[in-house]
Amino acid sequence: MRVQLNESNKSMKTQKSKIQDQSKKIVESLPYKIKDIALAKLGRDKIDISEKEMPGLMELRKKYSRSKPLKGFRLTGSLHMTIETAILIETLKDLGADVRWASCNIFSTQDEAAAAIAKTKTPVFAWKGETLEEYWDCTLQALTFKNNLGPNLIVDDGGDATLLIHKGFELENYFNEHKKLPKITSNIEEEIVIEKLLRKVHKLNPNHWHNIVPEIIGVSEETTTGVARLQQMVEDATLLFPAFNVNDAATKSKFDNLYGCRESLADGIKRSTEIMLAGKTVVVCGYGDVGKGSAQSMKSYGCKVIVTEIDPICALQAAMEGFEVRRLEDVLKRGNIFVTTTGNKDIITLKHMKKMKDQAIVCNIGHFDNEIQVDALNKSDAKRDQIKPQLDRYTFKNGKQIFLLAEGRLVNLGCATGHASFVMSTSFSNQVLAQLFLAKNKPAPGIYDLPRKLDEEVARIHLKHLDADLTKLSKSQAEYIGVNVNGPYKKDEYRY
Ligand code: NAD
Ligand code: ADE
Repeated sequence: MRVQLNESNKSMKTQKSKIQDQSKKIVESLPYKIKDIALAKLGRDKIDISEKEMPGLMELRKKYSRSKPLKGFRLTGSLHMTIETAILIETLKDLGADVRWASCNIFSTQDEAAAAIAKTKTPVFAWKGETLEEYWDCTLQALTFKNNLGPNLIVDDGGDATLLIHKGFELENYFNEHKKLPKITSNIEEEIVIEKLLRKVHKLNPNHWHNIVPEIIGVSEETTTGVARLQQMVEDATLLFPAFNVNDAATKSKFDNLYGCRESLADGIKRSTEIMLAGKTVVVCGYGDVGKGSAQSMKSYGCKVIVTEIDPICALQAAMEGFEVRRLEDVLKRGNIFVTTTGNKDIITLKHMKKMKDQAIVCNIGHFDNEIQVDALNKSDAKRDQIKPQLDRYTFKNGKQIFLLAEGRLVNLGCATGHASFVMSTSFSNQVLAQLFLAKNKPAPGIYDLPRKLDEEVARIHLKHLDADLTKLSKSQAEYIGVNVNGPYKKDEYRY
């Protein structure tokens, strides 16, 4: 279910902070936790350069830095701690927010970006190469303000901050009902880490998550997979606070997912393997927005591209772009490079990897690493050699070798620095607009979309930067096609 934002849809939540139990701190008091503060100068130089490529965020600063519409709001971010994110953080701060931040992936932090942010006394908890325990500790740190208070606003990418809160809340409900905590039954490493962390919090304060949830105004979600998680929560009637679907703004998914990946996929593969792409056969699994950008990218390098899809519409699109559409099982012996882009699990299995040709490269650009059966590969009889961080070679018993990039985590952020600043400016402008809407309207729980008019505004700002001249619609033309001269120019259902 997706609901349009409605001004009258205001919740009764109060913004005034309850002073939580201070006797037992949920987290250690730290100003920040990063790799090396000495990297701050490098980070600041890169921020200065990238700001010029992020006109959307700069325009929003100009528009709102005087009125400070986010003043008085505690804001937690769980999103790749890159240079572009540093500029988002400084925009949110400029608009008045009290910000704490963690990354949303163990490999995606640019340590110089984290250092530059830490230097400004913004609590940031992120470094490249976190363990899973460290990752979730960092998420908890970002969610815990002074006096054990939680955030009012959340910027999430993939839904991990939202998940920790919901799982903590659920655990407290279970305890209140059964007077004991449930046994940890999962055999998935990351789930065990989360469950253990939540039990630690519960011991310190059995009501922590119930205390913070009433003060959460909402979350803005960055990516396809995070939105899918939110939609599942709405279906299960478990979503505790409103959520803004940033991903499905046209100026996000039709730009970041497509044009962003079109450049950053190759960046990740090349920085990591230094391989010549021209002439290679690349198998792209999934032909959604990310798959389209990935396939187009590889084609532009002179690769032979094969696409796999489950959706006949996307498969037909791929075929009509001239891509060969096949089943993965049938092309394992042909591919030199395999890329998963589906947001789905078990796309490349251990069985598949065993059948690939010698020296095949396997990577994922979807949000989570479960697109590739990395656990099964690690538990198999294949010998693993780390060539360098985020590049592993596996040798099977028969002597055949494959390479796995970024341990199956998103290759563009694990092996490179993610999308370029300009396209992140379109995504992050939508993030800021979503945060402004949440702060102003305090809607009821549900999933909200940004109005198309704002999407058009984001595009308009970025057009200026590319020296493009937009044609002006005349009044009579506007009447003829049934739109307003000043937009929106398309109906909500239009798919771009
Ligand atoms: P999408 O829904 O547009 O595309 C996914 C496609 O995969 C769909 O067309 C679907 O039919 C197909 N698919 C599903 N299961 C499949 C299977 N078993 N075999 C083949 N195809 C299958 O989603 P998207 O916006 O393209 O995002 C894809 C993933 O990338 C998500 O996890 C998203 O969060 C992530 N993402 C990553 C980045 C990045 O920078 N790395 C950027 C944006 C999005
Ligand atoms: N997602 C993809 N690229 C990114 C970047 N450069 N910064 C933050 N999130 C990203």
